[in-house]
Amino acid sequence: MVTSRAVILKSRPVGMPLPANFAIVTMRVPPPRDGQVQVRNLWMSVDPYMRSRMNASEGYMTPFELGQPMSGGAVGIVVTSNDPSFNPGDLVLSMLGWREYFNAGPSDLRLVEALDLPVQAHLGIAGMTGLTAYAGLLRIANVKRGETVLISGAAGAVGSAACQIAKIKGCTVIGTAGGAEKVAYLEELGVDHIVNYKSESNLEAAIHDAAPNGIDVYFDNVGGIHLEAALSEAKNFARFVLCGMISQYNSKGSAAPHNLFMVVSKSISMHGFLVRDHYDLMKQFKKDVGTWFSSGQLHARETVERGLDNAVSAFLRLFEGGNLGKMLVKLG
Ligand SMILES: NC(=O)c1ccc[n+]([C@@H]2O[C@H](COP(=O)([O-])OP(=O)(O)OC[C@H]3O[C@@H](n4cnc5c(N)ncnc54)[C@H](OP(=O)(O)O)[C@@H]3O)[C@@H](O)[C@H]2O)c1
Repeated sequence: MVTSRAVILKSRPVGMPLPANFAIVTMRVPPPRDGQVQVRNLWMSVDPYMRSRMNASEGYMTPFELGQPMSGGAVGIVVTSNDPSFNPGDLVLSMLGWREYFNAGPSDLRLVEALDLPVQAHLGIAGMTGLTAYAGLLRIANVKRGETVLISGAAGAVGSAACQIAKIKGCTVIGTAGGAEKVAYLEELGVDHIVNYKSESNLEAAIHDAAPNGIDVYFDNVGGIHLEAALSEAKNFARFVLCGMISQYNSKGSAAPHNLFMVVSKSISMHGFLVRDHYDLMKQFKKDVGTWFSSGQLHARETVERGLDNAVSAFLRLFEGGNLGKMLVKLG
């Protein structure tokens, strides 16, 4: 019998989550039954969407249960297998993060594909995160060479993937991010214009300076005043891809945008999406990501916390701007 630690949701946060909303418990994991494998997690992902699962109300995903281990993307190694499709040593993807060990059957596991990338990239740029940027820009916005694309949360996991894909597709990219380190990172990625929104008193004016003729596409990760500024600086017939609104996840809603009528007056199309509806793109996405990595056009950046003890703080830091690229926790 293996002993495993797991992070549980102890109480539902109100506003910004606090460490006291979580606890680490120790559980016994019995040997796997027939048709199951036992997995030791090596890496787990922390993601902004997990915040909505901490609320009691049913959102677009089921709420986390109080007193139970939370769940989320993870990469682990099979330690014992009682299923013919897995062997000890196989690397597997699951949604059973926030714990050290677990037993599961094949329907909850996916073998990690052999890409010439570090294994944890499957939780980031070569996984759900990268696919979000890819689907949003290429399928929903259908960006074209020469277009001006504004991306908020540009130095984060989805944002930095979106910036790089938009550059690969020949767009002029404007990224917004908070802080000098993030600006330097976006310069490294070749982003054309970078707006440090934390040091700008007028976000709209800063975006206007970067794109005096207006923006064709806005990829929104942040919502609130970023969305408001993007509406003001959009061209007629601009396309807005609404990926996320992290500025609102810990609040009861934001006052902004105040200028939503611009959707009408500028004939803007706004399209919200969830990556889970675009998994049919995965095969093409993996192929493109492999090519772009090999040619040096795409780079993965990660902020790594170590150990389950630091998983909660890694999650909380997402809301404080504490990550460059994908925020991950290394467990193994
Ligand atoms: N639609 C989908 O299927 C889908 C899939 C994945 C992710 N998403 C969404 O995409 C967005 C980005 O996710 P991610 O995983 O890439 O996270 P992320 O951007 O790597 O991490 C969060 C970043 O958001 C910024 N931020 C946090 N609080 C903020 C606030 N109050 N105002 C402005 N910026 C704030 C911070 O960057 P700064 O320091 O630059 O402020 C922080 O580093 C999120 O909204 C997420 O929910 C959607």
